[in-house]
This record gives sequence, C-alpha cells and structure tokens, in this order.
Amino acid sequence: MSNVKHVPTAVINCQLLYVSESQASQVDSLQALVAEHALPIILNTELATDKLTQKRRQQLSQTATQPILLLDEKDKLSWLSDGLSIAPEWDKLQRRVVSAGRKSELLLQAAKITADSQVIDATAGFGHDSLILASTGAQVTMLEQQPLMALLLLVEQRRMSALPNWQKLMSRLHIINIDALSYFARFNNHLEADNEQVVDVIYLDPMFPEDSYQDSKTGKGAKVGKHMQALHQLARPPTLDEEQQLLQHAQIVVSQPSRKQGRVIVKRPQFAPLLAHLEPSESWSNEAVRFDGYFV
Ligand SMILES: C[S@@+](CC[C@H](N)C(=O)[O-])C[C@H]1O[C@@H](n2cnc3c(N)ncnc32)[C@H](O)[C@@H]1O
Repeated sequence: MSNVKHVPTAVINCQLLYVSESQASQVDSLQALVAEHALPIILNTELATDKLTQKRRQQLSQTATQPILLLDEKDKLSWLSDGLSIAPEWDKLQRRVVSAGRKSELLLQAAKITADSQVIDATAGFGHDSLILASTGAQVTMLEQQPLMALLLLVEQRRMSALPNWQKLMSRLHIINIDALSYFARFNNHLEADNEQVVDVIYLDPMFPEDSYQDSKTGKGAKVGKHMQALHQLARPPTLDEEQQLLQHAQIVVSQPSRKQGRVIVKRPQFAPLLAHLEPSESWSNEAVRFDGYFV
C-alpha cells in the first residue's frame, strides 16, 4: 500500500453568490467550515444584485469561468450547474431513512450491517446511500474526493444537525475530503502500527460512463437523475487500473484478522459490467441497480 501516493488536489476557485446582506454571518461560517476542514477551495463571495430568476441562473452558469455556489434566500447552499441548483437533499430521504431495513433496501440486504458496524462509504457523492447505511445505527465514514461535493455534504450535515429528529443520525456520519485510495493506504499503514481500527463494510459507488445506466439494446435500466448528470461535470469514471486498485485495497482494509468476515459492496447500474471485471461472491439486483458483494 505504501506505493500509493496522495496527489494534492488543485485549489478550486469558486464564486459564492448570496442574495441578502443579512447572510453575512452565514457566509463567514461557510468560510470557517472550509478552513476547519482544510478544503482546497477559495470562496470569492459576492452579493447578487439582480434577481436570480431561472433565466439568470442559466446565464450565470453558461458564462461562468469558475464553479458557482449559491446561498439562496432560505440559506440553502447549492452548486449552480446548467441553471439547476444541485445539493444533497437529505430531508427528502426521511421516509426511507425511518423505514430502512433489509426488506425495503437492497443496499442493506447486501451490506448486512448492524448497529455496531463500522462502515466506510468510499465514494460519498450526495451522501444518500450513506444515510441509508447509517440508518441502521452504524457509524459511517464518508470519503469524497471532490472538495465542492465535500463542502456541500458538510453544510448539509450541519443544517440537518440542527433538527432534533436528525441529530443522532447526523452524529454517526464522518465526512472526509480525501481520495479513497489515499485513505485506504493511510488506514493500512496504521494497522501495521498495531492500530485498533476495524472496518466491517466498505461501500463503493464510483461514477460509471453516462451511457451505461441503460441497456443499449432494450433501453431497460435506470434513468439518470439531474444530480447524477451534474456530477459527471465534476467527477469521471475510474480507469480499469483505478477500479482494480479501489477494489483490491478496499478488500485489504476489511480483511482484518480480528473480524470474522468483512465485505466490500459495489453499486452498479443493473446492466453495467463488473467493477475491475472481478466476479463477486454474491449479487443483489432490481430493475435499476445491482449490488455486487465481495466477501473477504
Ligand atoms: C456515483 S457518485 C456516488 C453517489 C452516492 N452513492 C450517493 O448516494 O449520493 C460517486 C462519487 O464518488 C466520488 N468518488 C469517485 N471516486 C472516488 C475516490 N477514489 N475517492 C473518493 N471519492 C470518489 C465522486 O467524486 C462522486 O462524488
């Protein structure tokens, strides 16, 4: 593992548009969050002088030379992509989070976690799957390589932590802006130094090519949502070599002698090829999605 190098992420220059002077303290707290988590983001703040209609948002995103973040009148932070406000929307998952169980969530059938499990969601994205994983009572470490996405996640976690019904769940989520391979390398080096950390499940949901969500012949499969479409502008699918490394290093992390069985769960569109062309131990699928489980 020691040959995996942590490549420093380039600093992202970003425009932060806010809509009212009364949001000055919110803007400051966003700057503080960026500093606290050492996110490589520079927020160039600007008070929007004209009304941010849909047409104006579209114009802004078309002419922008840097990513635009928008703090709207409800103090919700989002990333403006093609005129659309893109952000995690954890409150919309409330029903699924409350009723999540192995019967209703294929992911939980595959992951088989319990309240005392330690889980790593190595490709956190919008954090939606992390929430389902954490709904079991498990601790979930969320790794996200893209600093803008990591910022959106941290802001969403802070927003939701203010709501009494969500506090416990929020306290089980640990968001880190890091490339999963670097994290796995550090983790395994700690283990060499007799560190007591254990991980039961690693969950991988890397990007896949935009044309692989549906079967090219039958047209069956998942429709790509606006969130995922936008994400394709920030993140690319892994190369075969990266797929192999991800899967291999994830398997090493969960194969600790103190554990009976660790598992790596990989999410794919139903018709997508296997990650790293590696046969799983078991698969679970429905009409849109497939979870491939690698038991170690
Ligand atoms: C398909 S999305 C994940 C969606 C997520 N499961 C959800 O429920 O919202 C993939 C995300 O993983 C991130 N990612 C991809 N490769 C990564 C890596 N090696 N380390 C950390 N994050 C990674 C991408 O930046 C992107 O945000």
